[in-house]
Amino acid sequence: MKISSLRLQLLAWVVLPLAALAAVNLWTSQRNALATADLVTDRMLVGSARAISEQVAMVDGTLDATVPPAAIEMFDTGDRDSVYYRVETANGRLLTGYPDLPQAPARGSLEAPYRDHPLRLATLSHAVIGAGADSPIRVTVGVTLAGHDAMVKRLWLSAFAQQLALVVIAGVFVLLGLRRGLAPLIRLRDAVRSRSRSDLEPVEIAGAQSEIRPLIEALNAYMERVRGQMAAQRRFIANAAHQLRTPLALLSTQASYALRENAADQRQQALVALQASSGKLARLAEQLLTLSRAEPGSRRPRADLVDLTEAARHVLEAQAPTAIKSGIDLGLEETGPVPVTGDGTMLREMIVNLVDNALRYTPAGGSVTVKLAAIDGEALLTVTDSGPGIPAEECEHVFERFYRLAGSAEDGSGLGLAIVREVVENAGGSVTLGDAATGGLKVEVRLPLA
Ligand SMILES: Nc1ncnc2c1ncn2[C@@H]1O[C@H](COP(=O)(O)OP(=O)(O)OP(=O)(O)O)[C@@H](O)[C@H]1O
Ligand SMILES: [Mg+2]
Repeated sequence: MKISSLRLQLLAWVVLPLAALAAVNLWTSQRNALATADLVTDRMLVGSARAISEQVAMVDGTLDATVPPAAIEMFDTGDRDSVYYRVETANGRLLTGYPDLPQAPARGSLEAPYRDHPLRLATLSHAVIGAGADSPIRVTVGVTLAGHDAMVKRLWLSAFAQQLALVVIAGVFVLLGLRRGLAPLIRLRDAVRSRSRSDLEPVEIAGAQSEIRPLIEALNAYMERVRGQMAAQRRFIANAAHQLRTPLALLSTQASYALRENAADQRQQALVALQASSGKLARLAEQLLTLSRAEPGSRRPRADLVDLTEAARHVLEAQAPTAIKSGIDLGLEETGPVPVTGDGTMLREMIVNLVDNALRYTPAGGSVTVKLAAIDGEALLTVTDSGPGIPAEECEHVFERFYRLAGSAEDGSGLGLAIVREVVENAGGSVTLGDAATGGLKVEVRLPLA
């Protein structure tokens, strides 16, 4: 059985062994009680026998044995015990008492049945002056065991009550101690439970023990992280809304302009501009969607086997018309398949963004090269261009969401490299920016080979 309550667990660990110990103790105390009762009974038997023997004397030339009442009354402890005695001479002649009463060994006692009752017996030898061959006489006294057994029970019961009280008190103290000990934990639970949904301030539990502190600290650190993430999320939404607002306003202006225009070619012009604006808006929405998909936890994690060379070839085929239109020499250098594991769609999206950047920021007549290699157990994807590159001090910032270099003439939302980094890191790789030999930007993506 598995006990899931800490209280019950501790109680079991403390009280069960204690109860076992108490049981062992009870057994020994029962034996002690018995030994004590035996000793007391034997002393009384010997005392009674002595009292009887001292009354035996020579009267008018014959041995006279008169049993004094005190010798019998000393057993009258209220347990209705029967007392038997037997007084005989050295050669076995009965002076008084019960002739068939068994005799106990000298200096010892005997337990034997007599008339359907167990008896405890003691025998005493006593010299009588002037009795000649009849001396020493033997006095045997026996008593039934009711008083003896009652004494055992009394002694034992008091020991039992003590032990029981000890176990119960220990149990109560364990529970009390636990209650005190668990109080900070319960306060922590209540503090966390009673919070409003948005309250992520650190909790402080006064009097928490050193074992519970780390839990509280871990909880606070966790809430701190969640708080940071929520702030980032809020910033992102605000940025996205801001990014969407500008082209939407433009779109609206262009639409009213087209509506107002009567001349056919002017209206045509306005409609073309409107189409371009809506295209940009669609691309922004596309990038936002891709970024949200790239975030961990938004899609089921996938571990497709992806050939990066194959993926790059597809991307380049799709981008070829753009390259031709802007007069850029777009090339692929590869030596064979470069297999990696990850989310295929996202990895392709990552290459799309890198090639898109290279084509977008490289002036006409330039060149863009995508290179694939498998080196030292790593897949290496390099995209180089002959454009203006990115100044070293900006290299960290361009990966931030919505960050664009000041004075960028080209359209863009500033999400492309954020998507790249998100995808690469999710796939367990890294991305670095550097200078290409051709003067432009060199982006290196390293991923673990499948
Ligand atoms: N190949 C490159 N050459 C020169 N500058 C670049 C290059 N790639 C990116 N940049 C600079 O880094 C900035 C961030 O790039 P990123 O791809 O994140 O956004 P974007 O291209 O502006 O917008 P998006 O890709 O979302 O449409 C760009 O605005 C640009 O200034
Ligand atoms: Mg881009």
